[in-house]
Amino acid sequence: MTTPANPASGPDILTTPAAMQRWRRDHPGELGFVPTMGYLHDGHLALVRRAKAENPLNVVSIFVNPTQFGPGEDYERYPRDEQRDLSLLRSAGVDAVYLPSPADMYPPGYQTYVTVEALTRRLEGEARPGHFRGVATVVLKLFNAVSPTRAYFGRKDAQQLRVIRRMVRDLDLPIEIVPCDIVREPDGLAMSSRNVYLSPAQRAAAPIVRRALDTAATAWAAGERDAEALRQAARNVISSEPLAQLEYVSLADDETLEELEGTVDRPALLSLVVRFGPTRLLDNIELREQHA
Ligand code: PAJ
Repeated sequence: MTTPANPASGPDILTTPAAMQRWRRDHPGELGFVPTMGYLHDGHLALVRRAKAENPLNVVSIFVNPTQFGPGEDYERYPRDEQRDLSLLRSAGVDAVYLPSPADMYPPGYQTYVTVEALTRRLEGEARPGHFRGVATVVLKLFNAVSPTRAYFGRKDAQQLRVIRRMVRDLDLPIEIVPCDIVREPDGLAMSSRNVYLSPAQRAAAPIVRRALDTAATAWAAGERDAEALRQAARNVISSEPLAQLEYVSLADDETLEELEGTVDRPALLSLVVRFGPTRLLDNIELREQHA
């Protein structure tokens, strides 16, 4: 069967790697792919819309990947709502949804992992040991099932985007990685499936994360180029909010993510993690020279 899926009947649902590969063989041509862990919000849907605009065929995966969660992290309680996700994806007009089970992705005896090295030693990789090994492994497995032409990733997870780009280059994968801008709530909080963990008081305080980034970006735009002064500008804002605890703030080389010291003379990524109780909020902004 080589006909495109019929949007009126909803997306085709594939639940095993073999079924996904068969579907792909039956649907040749350019294909856009959006990997997710579900509990979809407008950030995910912006990726889906972009993929739809740029590709005749589109696949979204929903898989809460156990190998990227550390012991004591939120794998079990990660929010899930498959029916709601499927209805959003039907409205978005995607052709297929890939919904594999953990048992099919990691059957007994599983022992192969992808390690992207230096890029994963700092920031989220340091805070969450093994996290990017799980991410790189599952994304490669998803790519092998879906065989996309283009895959869409959010700038929200800035280090993840760089890790995936590096893996694609290093392993010669014939896939274009398309970065997509961060989608925010009206008050500036970056959308995240984990925002549901916030209490009302924490939710009300959470826009401080974006304000810290904005304050540093304003200093940058006014000509501040000292790396430590830029980090300190962000720290000062976070320390004004009693419910917020800064886990880290980093100003790093935009590509290698090596921490910058002294005068910043290249494109840089300012990123931070702020804790509200047990919930970690991750956000970032790219600092680059403005050309009029
Ligand atoms: P998940 O957190 O569900 O995110 C799926 C994709 O949506 C990622 O590329 C992420 O960067 C993007 N995204 C999330 N919030 C966003 C926002 N507010 N604006 C723009 N994009 C946003 O990231 C993962 O899942 C997993 O690690 C995955 C890549 C699926 C591998 O398991």
